[in-house]
Amino acid sequence: MAISQKVKKEYFALVAELNKHNDLYHKKDSPEISDQEYDQLFKRLLLLESEFPNIKTTNSPSERVGSEPVSGLKPFNHQIPMLSLDNAFDDKDLEDFEKRFLNKLKRKESYSYSCEPKIDGIAICLVYQDGILTRAGTRGDGNTGEEVTHNVKTMKEVPIQLKKNKDFPFPKEIEIRGEIYVEKKDFLNLNERFKKEGQKVFANPRNFAAGSMRQLNPKVASARPLKVFCHSLGYVDGNTLFDSQSSVIKAFQSWGLPTCPEISLASNLEETKKAFSKIARQREKLVYEIDGVVIKINEIALQQELGFSSRAPRWAIARKFEAEQAETKINSISFQMGRTGALTPVANLEPVEVGGVTISNATLHNMDEVERLDVRERDYVFIKRAGDVIPKIVSVIKEKRSGSEKKIKLPSFCSVCKREISYFEENIPCLKISLESEFSEGCYGYDQFKESLKHFVSRNAMDIEGLGSKTIDALISNKFISSITDLYSLDINQLLSLEGFAEKSAKNLIDSISKSKETELYRFIYSLGIKEIGLQTSKNIAKELGTLENIIKTNYERFIQVEDIGEVAASNLVSFFTNQKYLQILENFKNLNFNLSNEISNNQESHLQNKKIVITGTLNSFSRNELKEILEKMGAKVSSAVSKNTDYLISGSDPGSKIKKASELNIQIIDEDELSSFLQNDQ
Ligand code: IVH
Repeated sequence: MAISQKVKKEYFALVAELNKHNDLYHKKDSPEISDQEYDQLFKRLLLLESEFPNIKTTNSPSERVGSEPVSGLKPFNHQIPMLSLDNAFDDKDLEDFEKRFLNKLKRKESYSYSCEPKIDGIAICLVYQDGILTRAGTRGDGNTGEEVTHNVKTMKEVPIQLKKNKDFPFPKEIEIRGEIYVEKKDFLNLNERFKKEGQKVFANPRNFAAGSMRQLNPKVASARPLKVFCHSLGYVDGNTLFDSQSSVIKAFQSWGLPTCPEISLASNLEETKKAFSKIARQREKLVYEIDGVVIKINEIALQQELGFSSRAPRWAIARKFEAEQAETKINSISFQMGRTGALTPVANLEPVEVGGVTISNATLHNMDEVERLDVRERDYVFIKRAGDVIPKIVSVIKEKRSGSEKKIKLPSFCSVCKREISYFEENIPCLKISLESEFSEGCYGYDQFKESLKHFVSRNAMDIEGLGSKTIDALISNKFISSITDLYSLDINQLLSLEGFAEKSAKNLIDSISKSKETELYRFIYSLGIKEIGLQTSKNIAKELGTLENIIKTNYERFIQVEDIGEVAASNLVSFFTNQKYLQILENFKNLNFNLSNEISNNQESHLQNKKIVITGTLNSFSRNELKEILEKMGAKVSSAVSKNTDYLISGSDPGSKIKKASELNIQIIDEDELSSFLQNDQ
């Protein structure tokens, strides 16, 4: 299957991004994103790799666990790799896990599961020879970790000599794996102290444990309250002594090794779900941090039959917790002007930490959402950070209302330029503004132009790298740009005068702007942001009409014949291409010597090719735009209304009336649980 440049670009950007965060997490003990965000990026990587198997690169994070060791400590080679675990985010993922391994098993006797809190610490392996602790190592990249025997030996909880037990004689050599952690209260106390003393403060208990272990001088570790839970076996010299994970845990206990007290046995998958809910309920009260529940097939013979994929065992999965919620107060509500002239209400929150990240804004999407939640200014609310980067308001805590809360009203005009909101709705695309006489910073018109520029440079459009929101803002406020074509006359000195630019970054940006002149015609059409003209429609226009000159000359009757173009889209196109203001902008583009090619690399073999899909409701794992983009990449057509031609309705939570219409028309409805297998054609 041909892999388009865009997919490749996205893929390699993801690989780089994930590898960067791997380094920050494993080597520097200073993560910049939360685990949930990491998991979402990783999920997307796996999706691309399953969709396009040939794309996989050897430095893909899916091929590695952890990261290479940092220098200073001696390398520790693992005889059996220390792997990672696959994740399950909901019951469906658990069911898929069971389906997958059942498919692989040659025999299907009854099987049970060990359900164990997933300790949020650092992985450790302890080597005991004839019952004596001889070596200890971290996970590193799974094959080579760091030798930390000197530090582990200072830990009171780790026995230097195992206790003898006649039921479980210890083998000549055994490698025990577990997790080093710090209790929540110890972490808080120590971090507080470090802060006072001006020492490095850690983001969470896990980074604290990692930072303590990665010390050359054992004095540091010995002064820190490090603890361990042992949870599995590595290399064992001699015949295997154990028939189940439960007996492994019993043996550990009998030898004097600490194990997690909250482990339970489930006799089927349903029971693992109950065990998960139980642990989730206990989570807050536990003295140690956990980030999910590890579910392992209990029988060792079955584990051995299933074996491992390149990064994780096939016999275990980590059921991760949902994104975390937190309570906070809405200080005020502001409205953000979008490219299309629509205002989005945004809640400005009393800053609060959710899942390790401080949140001070949450989107309210639109006024329907404001009404649905009955949100008011000064309300106390629960907020949630799902995989989505933008946090959401989940509910209002009405019991906490004092009466001083203020209902939210959509502004009817811009407080700066005094224009009515309808003006902005009609003003798309917004490709040029007059900064001197019409709009200034803080004005809706200014924001609309800024959003239009963001759309113009975005990945599906002109794909100009290095031009983020902040830079665009600076370019407009410094009056370097007031028309979209001004981008192409920026000079390096202008960029150098802005904060954050140095010789190299300025040159790179100028290069990528200039490179964007060579692009596909459909991207250029899409980048203009004409109302109703999305990516797929732009492709259809480019395919059928061939050149920009042709498109400019096209009339309503011809536009409406283009696949997928209805009356509204056709008249929007005609209004655009007959408007002197826009024609002048196009003329300016022409003078810049754009070279617009007409190749469209569509993924012809996808099972969603030409399928008509509608998305409704709120999705947790993707933003709607993300999902739309993925579906379109797979050749599907995404539209907003359900009709008899619709093939599938993808439905998130709170789906509204579309779901009723779809079931009346007998259209297949895909809910969020089914989404990943739907995308992978794995139903
Ligand atoms: S069993 C082959 N059990 O989670 C991996 N791991 O994300 C089998 N972890 O590397 C590991 N609690 O460091 C297992 N009860 C538990 C665990 C656990 C935490 C860690 C472990 C592993 C990582 C995978």
